[in-house]
Amino acid sequence: MISAMKFILLFLSGIVLHLGITPVQALLHRFEVRRSLHTRLCTTKSMLTVNGQFPGPTIYARRGDLVTVDIVNLSDRNITIHWHGVKMPRYPWSDGTNLVTMCPITPGNKFRQRMILSDEEGTLFWHAHSDWSRATVYGAIIILPPTTESYPFPKPHAQIPILLGLWWNDDIDEVYQNFIAEGRDPAAVDAFLMNGQPGDLYPCSTQDTFRLKVETGKTYHIRMVSALMHFIVFFKIAGHNVTVVGADGSYTKPLNTDYILIGPGQTIDFLLETNQPPSHYYMAYKIYTRGSNDTTPRSPLFRSDYVPSTGILEYVGNYTPPPSPLFPPFPEAWPSTTIYFSNKLRSLANDKHPIDVPINITEKLFFVLSINLWPCRANSCLESDRFLASINNVSMIMPETSVLEAYYKGIKGVFTPNFPDHPERVFNFTYVSLGQNASHPRFATAVYMLDYNATVEIVFQNTILGNGLDHPIHIHGYSFYHLGSGLGNFDEARDRLNLNLVDPPFMDTVIVPRFGWTVVRFKASNPGVWYMHCHYDRHQSWGMKMVFIVKDGDRPEEKMLPPPQDMPRCDTPPLDYYY
Ligand code: C2O
Ligand code: CU
Repeated sequence: MISAMKFILLFLSGIVLHLGITPVQALLHRFEVRRSLHTRLCTTKSMLTVNGQFPGPTIYARRGDLVTVDIVNLSDRNITIHWHGVKMPRYPWSDGTNLVTMCPITPGNKFRQRMILSDEEGTLFWHAHSDWSRATVYGAIIILPPTTESYPFPKPHAQIPILLGLWWNDDIDEVYQNFIAEGRDPAAVDAFLMNGQPGDLYPCSTQDTFRLKVETGKTYHIRMVSALMHFIVFFKIAGHNVTVVGADGSYTKPLNTDYILIGPGQTIDFLLETNQPPSHYYMAYKIYTRGSNDTTPRSPLFRSDYVPSTGILEYVGNYTPPPSPLFPPFPEAWPSTTIYFSNKLRSLANDKHPIDVPINITEKLFFVLSINLWPCRANSCLESDRFLASINNVSMIMPETSVLEAYYKGIKGVFTPNFPDHPERVFNFTYVSLGQNASHPRFATAVYMLDYNATVEIVFQNTILGNGLDHPIHIHGYSFYHLGSGLGNFDEARDRLNLNLVDPPFMDTVIVPRFGWTVVRFKASNPGVWYMHCHYDRHQSWGMKMVFIVKDGDRPEEKMLPPPQDMPRCDTPPLDYYY
């Protein structure tokens, strides 16, 4: 009975969306994690999903809502679910990060999670946060303004989620286990997905291609989520410009652009005006690759014959559609493209949407991001060494129990409170390739302790080790003010002058560009245990991750809340990347 009601609600919410009426918000959800069969590229596989849906159900809420989600694990895998970009004030217990804030929900068990919305408004998403299950276990979170408020832009005609994802014909567990055993990059993806479909440039996809039917002369609010496991991508709609109005659950100044650049873990809200001649237009996205003069070997992460994922924008009306929709031209990538796009994003920074960039910094952190190597001791390795990754040369080892539980209960020996605030070895980060031995990290489960209300600045410095790659760095429990990014080594004298302290965007995931740096600030006003990591899953698995513990303040409302009764127990040893 209850599930029938749910179904009707979901069904209704689909309809009202297209009429432009406010969608139905439910404040209680039931997420059944289970295996279900899905077919793409003419290949059927059984995979983990929530409620059998792929992508998973969309959660609609309003700013400041408390949403309760019962996670019921009917699968054969351990699982955790994370509300990506939701700050969860004082309540890391429901943040859903495997072995950082909780132990996984084991098969047959359940956990009631509270998703506590505070200042977020716009688009976020939820995803699994244990091994690589998030490849198939993800969905959008759409946060509307409170009923008494409106958008900082004219009310759009309709809200359209567009989720970007990946598809492997093989089971993702198998991909993950081989990746761990072999010590190198994981198997190439078989398809890129838009709302769960590869699009009609792929075999067997024409029927199910995502089609967005639009009326002429209207404004559509597109809520884009990158649930990709790797790859920064360009998204384009043929013949149309769009206006970015938000990112990572926070509004931005309107930015008119003919492309969107989005990294894993980021969300972008943009407006699409249907102001072109009625026709069919492709919406497509492509990997952001290095310029054509870059001779470093092609990444095995995608097939050399890969094609972009597409959807079709279809104007309704009486006209003869072209034999094939118009395809958008893609921008040439150059090393600074990611910098160029992210530096153009600006917060509203006005009376109704103020910002609060910390000015007097009490914690100045300099975090160096590297890809490293380590001798391989298993005979399953593809090469003599395996890839690792580190922050300040520390490659994080996941503990066997959750850091949060250990911190809360004072259990010794789970983590050490000495994560380095500067690199242990300084070198010419973006210019000189060190010998292989110099790229060995050390292993630790080290956390960085922050006092309540500390004002933190982090300079993320990328390195050339492993040829250099962009890193989308994501923080839990907070958003960063992204003050700027640039190429080369961060230069205190030169680069600091150009940081944006006036209207920086408020992001939960910032891209640290290849051969460059990114500077962020935040105020540690949310006590708890908060994970920070690269949102490329392979880099996270290799160790590019760390934990902040933000201590309680003195007043009762500055302290972490107590745990719920039904926290999953920590009694199953995890499967993690091993050395
Ligand atoms: Cu989107 Cu730690 O995650
Ligand atoms: Cu990375």
